[in-house]
Amino acid sequence: MPSIRFRLNGTAREIDADPTSTLLDILRGQFGLIGPHFGCGSGECGACRVIVADHAVTSCDTPVWSVADKDVTTLEGLGSPEHPHPLQRAFIAEQAMQCGYCVSGVLMSAAALLMQKPEPTEAEVRAALDRNLCRCGAHNRMVRAVLAAANEMTVP
Ligand code: FES
Ligand code: FES
Repeated sequence: MPSIRFRLNGTAREIDADPTSTLLDILRGQFGLIGPHFGCGSGECGACRVIVADHAVTSCDTPVWSVADKDVTTLEGLGSPEHPHPLQRAFIAEQAMQCGYCVSGVLMSAAALLMQKPEPTEAEVRAALDRNLCRCGAHNRMVRAVLAAANEMTVP
């Protein structure tokens, strides 16, 4: 099997894998990362979102060959319980979740947005999260949390 190199959460990695394997299978199966969730498996729900080269992508339908030589960031690379990302702090402060299943993907979509637009409008936040489905109906709280985090991150 061919080897594929990429950076995962800041660390250089090289794996032997079927290049048509999905990125989600590699992240969960080979690296044991449980941040990206399997939901629909067809690019529709957003539960599996990760950041590839500053863009949020659905890892369930991204072939692993396509991330060669790129930076891949999962929830595990965003923050930790000891050092949470401002988005994670804001989601907790706003109680922006119920079951939590969708939240990893939502956080990665929001983080990619803030990389590209540090001061997004509410409409831009809503557009960025539009492809993340939340069956618990927590979207309004999530939008408030993303705006609060953006505000915190841009205050001098
Ligand atoms: S599991 Fe990937 S978009 Fe639903
Ligand atoms: S918090 Fe339950 S699916 Fe979003």
